[in-house]
Amino acid sequence: MENNSEIFNQIVEKRKSYRVFDSKNKIPDEVVKRSLERAILSPNSSNMQLWEFYIVKKEEDIKTLGSICMNQSGAKTASQMVVFVCRPDKWKHRQQAMVKNLDNTFKSKDAPGAKGAYQYYEQLIPMMYNTSFAFAKDALKKVFVAYKGLKKPFVRDVMSKNITIVANKSVALAAQTFMLSISAEGYDSLPMEGFDSKRLKQFLNLPKKASICMVVSVGEGKPEGLYGPRFRLPYNDVVFEV
Ligand SMILES: Cc1cc2nc3c(=O)[nH]c(=O)nc-3n(C[C@H](O)[C@H](O)[C@H](O)COP(=O)(O)O)c2cc1C
Repeated sequence: MENNSEIFNQIVEKRKSYRVFDSKNKIPDEVVKRSLERAILSPNSSNMQLWEFYIVKKEEDIKTLGSICMNQSGAKTASQMVVFVCRPDKWKHRQQAMVKNLDNTFKSKDAPGAKGAYQYYEQLIPMMYNTSFAFAKDALKKVFVAYKGLKKPFVRDVMSKNITIVANKSVALAAQTFMLSISAEGYDSLPMEGFDSKRLKQFLNLPKKASICMVVSVGEGKPEGLYGPRFRLPYNDVVFEV
C-alpha cells in the first residue's frame, strides 16, 4: 500500500488559521470547486448529506459578509468565503435519494442485505428527522429509549434537539476536508463562528430551520495574518489509553 503520511503531515502542518489575506492574489475558482468536491466526500451521518455550501466571491458580497462576521479582518480581506450550512429540514429529499440509491444497488427488497437497509431509511430515518409533533414524539421516544436501554446498549440521542447536533458534526467534517484541501492546493483558510447567524441566514435567503455551522475564508494568507506560533496542549493532557 502506498504510504502518503509524509505528504499528509505537510498538509496538516501547513493549515493554520490566517486572519489576514493578500487582496492582490485571488484564489482561483477551480481550487475552491475542487476543494468543495473533496469536502462532499466527507463521512456524514447515515449518508443523509444534510449540508449545503455557499460560495461568496463578489467584492460587494465579501464586504457584506465581512460585516456579518463582526468585521473580522480574516473575513474582510478574504479572497472568497464558503458558508457551511446544515439543512436538517431537507431530510425528506435526502431520504428519497438514499432510497433511490438502494433501488439501484439491490435488485429487490428481498435481496441479501436489502431488508435492513430499506427499514433503516424508510422507517428509522423519518422517526429521527420528521419534527412535526416533536413534543409528543420526544415524550414517546424518551420512554421507548429508556425501556430499550435497560438491559443493553441503545442509541439514546434521537430526540428532536439532537438533529441539529447530528447535522453539525457532519458539516464540520466537510469544513475540515475543505480546509485541508485548500492547504494541499497551496492556499490558506480561516474557519469562523463569530458571525450574526440571523443576518447571515437572511443574506443567504435560508429558512428558519437551516443553521450555519461555519464560515470559512480562503485566499493567500499574509505572514502578519498568523497570530503567533501554534499552541496546543501536550499530547498526554488530552489523549488517554483506556
Ligand atoms: C468552529 C470554529 C470557529 C472558529 N471561529 C473563529 C472566529 O470567529 N474567528 C477567528 O479568528 N478564529 C476562529 N477560529 C479559529 C481558531 O481560533 C483556531 O483554529 C485555533 O486558534 C487554532 O489555531 P490554528 O487553526 O491556527 O491551528 C475558529 C475555529 C473553529 C474550529
